Amino acid sequence: MRQDHLITATQLSRGDIEGVLDRARKAAADPSAYAGRHAGTVLALCFFEPSTRTRMSFDAAAKRLGIDTIDMGDVGSSSVSKGESLADTVRVIEGYADAIVLRHPSEGAATLAAEFVDVPVINAGDGAGQHPSQTLLDLHTIRENHGLDDLTVGIMGDLKYGRTVHSLATALTNFDARQHFISPQSLRLPRSVRFDLHETGAQVREHDELAAVLPELDVLYVTRIQKERFPDENEYHRVAGEYQIDADTLADAAADLTVMHPLPRVDEIAPDVDDTDHARYFEQAHNGIPVRMALLDTLLGDGADDGPTTETETDHE
Ligand code: NCD
Repeated sequence: MRQDHLITATQLSRGDIEGVLDRARKAAADPSAYAGRHAGTVLALCFFEPSTRTRMSFDAAAKRLGIDTIDMGDVGSSSVSKGESLADTVRVIEGYADAIVLRHPSEGAATLAAEFVDVPVINAGDGAGQHPSQTLLDLHTIRENHGLDDLTVGIMGDLKYGRTVHSLATALTNFDARQHFISPQSLRLPRSVRFDLHETGAQVREHDELAAVLPELDVLYVTRIQKERFPDENEYHRVAGEYQIDADTLADAAADLTVMHPLPRVDEIAPDVDDTDHARYFEQAHNGIPVRMALLDTLLGDGADDGPTTETETDHE
């Protein structure tokens, strides 16, 4: 990777992504090759917003690499509740840890934190901004199911506030994917993301309805309406409950359509989809372990090596 921090998907080249995903493949195939590889290293988990998957999978991935984790705990029990600034908090934590995973409700928080510390900062979600480590595990899931070339991807739901959408849409421009965005008018992609897509010449179309485009899709990425980001709760209620899918909705889909969701889901995907061959969202969540192992290994490694030699590799030698 060209930078020590992982703040936004715009910094990820195709080579960066493939480098991490190649390692993730190795980590999934032979986790023992990574055991203890970063023993003596400490990772700080700093979550200023709720998290289950991201916090726990970074924690578990770190432990599988021999990394000790320290957790800031809930904001209410930390010095943040006494009025400490984010800059001060991360400057203190830099002295305790070799890397920082940061989730924060404010867009730009990870960028700011990275300006104040020398250890790698991984943006685990900054408000309605970006969530690039989620994107790496999303891409790993797509790669393992379809490969990353010649893809048609539909992204549906809250495109305005969904940070996983912003990172994924940007990263997909490295792979010439055809991207279809399906949402109500009020939840279209923000201008900044449109700009990034436009700059790369990405093939992008916007739709009000899924039905028109569903049969073309290799991947349907469904997202939750981000209730906590709506300035006006009435506005949320106007769009909540739209853009739900169930097994019947998918009747016209390609047989190998992959349905993804960063989770948590509310009611966007009915439980009957779980029993179809399309459902990959739990596999996607599980992919958080090898992908975050690969990411930590990349950011904490010496940059020159491309991961441990695995049994799979030595078999071929
Ligand atoms: C997402 C997030 O926090 O942005 N969750 C996650 O990290 N898997 C998606 C969401 O909260 O809707």
